[in-house]
Amino acid sequence: PIHACLFDLDGVLVDTAKYHFLAWKRLADELGFEFTEKDNERLKGVSRMASLDILLEVGNVQLDDATKIALAEKKNNWYVDYISSMDESEILPGSLSFLKELKEHGIKVALGSASKNAMKILNNANIVPYFDAIIDGTKTSNAKPDPEVFLLGAEAVNVSPEHCIVFEDAEAGIEAATNAGMRSIGIGSAGTLTQANYVVTSLADMSVEKLQRIMTQH
Ligand code: BG6
Ligand code: MG
Repeated sequence: PIHACLFDLDGVLVDTAKYHFLAWKRLADELGFEFTEKDNERLKGVSRMASLDILLEVGNVQLDDATKIALAEKKNNWYVDYISSMDESEILPGSLSFLKELKEHGIKVALGSASKNAMKILNNANIVPYFDAIIDGTKTSNAKPDPEVFLLGAEAVNVSPEHCIVFEDAEAGIEAATNAGMRSIGIGSAGTLTQANYVVTSLADMSVEKLQRIMTQH
């Protein structure tokens, strides 16, 4: 049985993945190369600096560390600007009712996000009270696919990995779950999230009953 659900934030609970993409694309535009949605898949779930490295690889651009730090900050300033006006309307369909249902069933809820902006987003979307534990990019030193973020989440709610399930929209995040010894549900397309135990289009397709049923089969 599942005793804890660990949620990625961007692209799973809130519709912020599009703002990350917009900000990275804006940076690529400035640097003078094309950056597509397909390229962007590789950035999902990946930390800010690792994302920049992938972006620069796509553009075949080599830069020194100081310039890279400045560019990452530039991207983040744009991103923070995009999310500064976000509110509950950016919560993805099904998220709130599923979080409420988990609470009713006594299933622990933890956040496992790479983002250093997670608290800002949770506050703007007004969903902080739904979490028993919040692990974000300010609390981890190893980026997904390293399992650190999910292991810390499981530890914080005192549930062993085999009784945890991870909800992720990123390949790196699904891999992180596997590396943590946890099962995972992909949010998105089964074609992209091939390593997930099960894939749904959105949390609107999820319920506690369905979750327990899926988990007895996978
Ligand atoms: C992840 C996103 O949740 O957080 C990535 O999927 C992002 O796209 C990463 O790069 C780090 O976020 P931030 O807000 O700290 O730059
Ligand atoms: Mg994500």
